[in-house]
Amino acid sequence: MSSFKIKSFEEYEQAYQKSVEAPEEFWGEIASTFRWQKKWDKVLEWNFTDPDVKWFVGGKTNITENCLDRHLEKNANTLAYIWEPNNPNDATVKYTYRELHEKVCRFANVLKKHGAKKGDRICIYMPMIPELAIAVLACARIGAVHSVVFGGFSAHSIADRIQDAQCSMVITADGGVRGNKEIPLKSVMDDALELCPSVKKVIVLTKTKTPVYMLRNRDFWWDEELQTVGADCPAEPMDAEDILFILYTSGSTGKPKGVLHTVGGYMVFAQYTFENVFQYEQPEIFFCTADIGWITGHSYIVYGPLLSGATSVLFEGIPTFPDAGRFWDIVQKHRVTTLYTAPTAIRSLMAAGLKYVNGKDLSSLKKLGSVGEPINEEAWHWYHDNIGKGNCPIVDTWWQTETGGILISAIAGITPLKPGFASLPLPGIQPCLVDEKGDVIEGNGVSGNLCIKFPWPGIIRTTYGDHERCRTTYFSTYKNMYFTGDGCMRDEDGYYRITGRVDDVINVSGHRIGTAEVENAINMHTGVVESAVVGFPHDIKGQGIYAYVITEKAPSDENLMRQDILMTVSRIIGPIAKPDKIQFVSGLPKTRSGKIMRRILRKVAEGDIANLGDTSTLLDPTVVDAIKAGAIKSS
Ligand code: PRX
Repeated sequence: MSSFKIKSFEEYEQAYQKSVEAPEEFWGEIASTFRWQKKWDKVLEWNFTDPDVKWFVGGKTNITENCLDRHLEKNANTLAYIWEPNNPNDATVKYTYRELHEKVCRFANVLKKHGAKKGDRICIYMPMIPELAIAVLACARIGAVHSVVFGGFSAHSIADRIQDAQCSMVITADGGVRGNKEIPLKSVMDDALELCPSVKKVIVLTKTKTPVYMLRNRDFWWDEELQTVGADCPAEPMDAEDILFILYTSGSTGKPKGVLHTVGGYMVFAQYTFENVFQYEQPEIFFCTADIGWITGHSYIVYGPLLSGATSVLFEGIPTFPDAGRFWDIVQKHRVTTLYTAPTAIRSLMAAGLKYVNGKDLSSLKKLGSVGEPINEEAWHWYHDNIGKGNCPIVDTWWQTETGGILISAIAGITPLKPGFASLPLPGIQPCLVDEKGDVIEGNGVSGNLCIKFPWPGIIRTTYGDHERCRTTYFSTYKNMYFTGDGCMRDEDGYYRITGRVDDVINVSGHRIGTAEVENAINMHTGVVESAVVGFPHDIKGQGIYAYVITEKAPSDENLMRQDILMTVSRIIGPIAKPDKIQFVSGLPKTRSGKIMRRILRKVAEGDIANLGDTSTLLDPTVVDAIKAGAIKSS
């Protein structure tokens, strides 16, 4: 285990201070514990104006050598993954580091055989099975850039992502299962590929034995291809600033953007944050319930744990199948020590009741984690009392796709906790709160927009193919600062509490959804003239999606029209973006310059119609009365 593990609050304070006073020395020492093919010439070069951030400049490494090869000498027989299938009656599959290494190298050779090389983009669309991690690592092994697309996205969304990155290859499976649902992955991918001429090869894993279409010379079976290659695959030497992956995420405008991370900095940051926040020690069993299709899975199922030589549970299914006790069954079965999940899952399991928890042996648990959205106090206490039995610290980890790893979080067992607070910044992270004018708000007991004023190794480098978009989205709102898009308060003790997005991004069950994206999808529906989408508080999901829709003529059957719109959104984005409520309106509250006053729509969606504030600047204030009258109440 590494030498940078913080072991006391004093050590945290010392590390923090050093990281601010001498950041290059601080991160240089941590990076020295990794395997490099060539050491870096300079730890950091940066400016937030262009922006241009480079870590470990001139260094060469391959992240898979650090995830796999470096553990082979002493820990080859340690388990890397314990795979828990969707159906609890199916067999668990376990992979040691040696086995994982071999599987990654072989599959990397399959990719090479089909022409993949350093810098090529490869789209991965797979279920939560070990082969997904193997595919990700095989790309990294040969220096290809992976772009993992979550299994719940539609053909249309996949096509957008493949086209944006100009992927030349796709890795998928015939199908996947989650709970009772089967997803015909290859068939969805085939629809996407109609729009993606850049894709020359598709590797298909047999998983569900769903019949699939296999196009000669384009589509190849994973298992058959493996028979044709050897197990030896030297790791491609990668520059620290070569691209490791692209991961698409939603913003307040336009289509999802490809957040780009590079090899060296991401690697150092993923391991540093994993080991410190979770205080991981072998032989602990770490269970992150996220999907590898999201950043949490990238950093804390694949890279962070493997870099640390940890043993992780990889779970194919969902928390409520076959019943709402599934997480607790998994904890009991695999003696999980650390459970890292999302508030939305906690709230839904809390709603299911303690009968699913009672009688389960959760005594192996030592640490709990939360990620993706603010955790309300009720859920925090339920998690703490009933799952952690009052003696497991909860780390509420705040971070983003763009940050690569955790930025603000307690360190398990070390930082004193406060429910609802992400607590303190990790070493290397310099947060600040900024007011509307862009002035930094000093002192404690204050609120503002959360920015970070100094780079950390895992920071986003660019948005793929559109650097200007990266600059305007994150680095131009406030000079010389990275703007997170989150609102935040810092209490009297300097503890940070994230209050939610301040832009037009909705956080539904911990998934980021752009209002503009949903509006564009709704507007594609025949008969729709215009729409406006806002978030509203939702008991289980955190936020729900509320859509106001203007139609050409009043729908003859409103419910059917609602169902049709939901179908359209599902086809265009995916089921996760389906609005919870659709209100048909005859007009939207617009200013004289034509801007929709979303503040009013948010208030109505929240049910707070008594306090709509000043509506006198509206072009037609009477639309507000009509909207209020037709508001869909919470059930
Ligand atoms: O609003 C914040 C919320 O999730 C956003 C980032 O979403 P995404 O890039 O999908 O990454 C999610 C997993 C890291 C943030 O801007 N968020 C994330 N973690 C927390 C959070 N809000 C409050 N508390 C958290 N712990």
